[in-house]
Amino acid sequence: MKALITGISGFVGSHMAEFLLQKGVEVYGTIRHRSRMNHIQHLLDDIHLVECELRDPFSVETLIEDAKPDLIFHLAAQSFVPTSWNSPIDTIHNNVAGEVNIFEAIRRLGIDCKIQLACSSEEYGHVNPDEVPIKETNPIRPLSPYAISKVAQEYLGYQYFKSYGLKTVMTRTFNHTGPRRGENFVTSNFAKQIADIEKGKKDPVIHVGNLQAKRDFTDVRDVVRAYWLALEKGVVGETYNIASGTCYTIEEVLHKLLSYSKVQITVEEDPARLRPSDVEILLGDYSKFHQQTGWKPEIPFEQTMEDLLQYWRSQ
Ligand code: GDD
Repeated sequence: MKALITGISGFVGSHMAEFLLQKGVEVYGTIRHRSRMNHIQHLLDDIHLVECELRDPFSVETLIEDAKPDLIFHLAAQSFVPTSWNSPIDTIHNNVAGEVNIFEAIRRLGIDCKIQLACSSEEYGHVNPDEVPIKETNPIRPLSPYAISKVAQEYLGYQYFKSYGLKTVMTRTFNHTGPRRGENFVTSNFAKQIADIEKGKKDPVIHVGNLQAKRDFTDVRDVVRAYWLALEKGVVGETYNIASGTCYTIEEVLHKLLSYSKVQITVEEDPARLRPSDVEILLGDYSKFHQQTGWKPEIPFEQTMEDLLQYWRSQ
């Protein structure tokens, strides 16, 4: 069996590659000329890397024709919400055009494969207090250009399934983290700041944004197992929440991380870290996915936070 991971050198992509290799799957992955290879350095002998710009239809068609994958995990994206306010068109173009190019290549070449689409809980956006835990049937009220790009990705997945029979499965993944998480994202950012303070590289002050937001975190290693099951047991054309079913305020996350460190650290709000509109609460109901695939998260949040802090201490 052959699997193609778009964005293999990224945070989720590298964990997905490790998971698939353990399953004995032949792994292809896309990189761009400026991709950093540190997350997949240890895998280079075992995977096929293809330089591909997903925004370029010719580049994508060549990729699909050469790899002829049975499974595609479409993980490549501009995934940081604040960047999408600074460059909204780039986020939308990157996330939407890349996916359409993959769909068109599969359709034109007549490749028989299943495609997992990494959509997002950000699509729910504004959530009313009586709407949690959030089910897939909840209204979509996106609050950022990034969220809009993910709504478009998801609806295109549905449309290509209906119009052309492409075997798409859409996963609305809630926040996920763990070792290798990019340093912009909240858990990694706080963990890195703590590790830098411990190393004496930074004053003992941690800078934070909105601490009142509530998020539902799943370990990335549970998430990649979910993506595999989505294609193995999920129903094509369907959308599934991937979540832990528990949420914390960002303040609770901060204090959890701080409790693992012995150094005295003060907390300071950095206005530049506040967003034009922030999603107040994301708490997911993953029962639809559990009933279909048997998946449930296995790694406790505390373990994920400790592993993440250890990761930054080792960098
Ligand atoms: N990044 C960051 N940095 N966020 C902060 C900070 C900070 O210093 N302080 C507070 N926050 C708050 C943000 O305002 C937000 O409410 C929450 O922490 C989480 O922020 P991020 O880690 O940047 O993630 P996100 O929730 O915006 O989006 C992530 O989850 C989505 C799924 O719900 C990303 O991984 C998306 O790609 C993903 O789709």
